[in-house]
Amino acid sequence: MSNEGVNLTRRRVLTGATCVVGAVGVVGAAVPFVGSWQPNAKAKAAGAPVKVDIGKIRPGEMITEAWRGKPVYILRRTPEALAMLSKAEDRLLDPQSEEAQQPTYVDPKNRAVKEEYLILVGLCTHLGCAPTYRPEVGATDLNRAGEEWLGGFFCACHGSRFDLAGRVFKGVPAPLNLVVPPHSYESDSVVVVGIDEGENA
Ligand code: FES
Repeated sequence: MSNEGVNLTRRRVLTGATCVVGAVGVVGAAVPFVGSWQPNAKAKAAGAPVKVDIGKIRPGEMITEAWRGKPVYILRRTPEALAMLSKAEDRLLDPQSEEAQQPTYVDPKNRAVKEEYLILVGLCTHLGCAPTYRPEVGATDLNRAGEEWLGGFFCACHGSRFDLAGRVFKGVPAPLNLVVPPHSYESDSVVVVGIDEGENA
């Protein structure tokens, strides 16, 4: 083979190699775009229902879970806490839950499917701070002139108060009861937040 023939052959080999590298580069560059076309798994999970084992919550205890980027409070109410619900109704803004702040299948007064378990979105209906669970009856910092605190939720941002069913008191900045999210019971000890009663998870 002449020198010219060898050079041509080498040039073809080099050109071919460059094409392969180029193709790999294109495929490599395309991967992130293909990835961004697919629904993001994290985004999907963020909107998904959340199963919570409530079997280990002790009476009077509250746990906080996350659903759709929001805190969800799950409180196991004691018989004493349930008895408090009727004691301050004249001081509540919407004691019968007439505003649409809860699914229709919860009891309008105790705002639960099973009265023992209160499930709330833990965001104040004023400007969205997270209210604190304050179960202590007679808490000195929460008593008002002539009115004893009976336990409930207190939003320290601007002083809104809610009872142990998340119902808002009159005369505070928050205009509505705390939201009860859609939820259903998969068993006695498992609740699914984000799925309405009667829907399949
Ligand atoms: S955000 Fe709760 S009182 Fe303003």
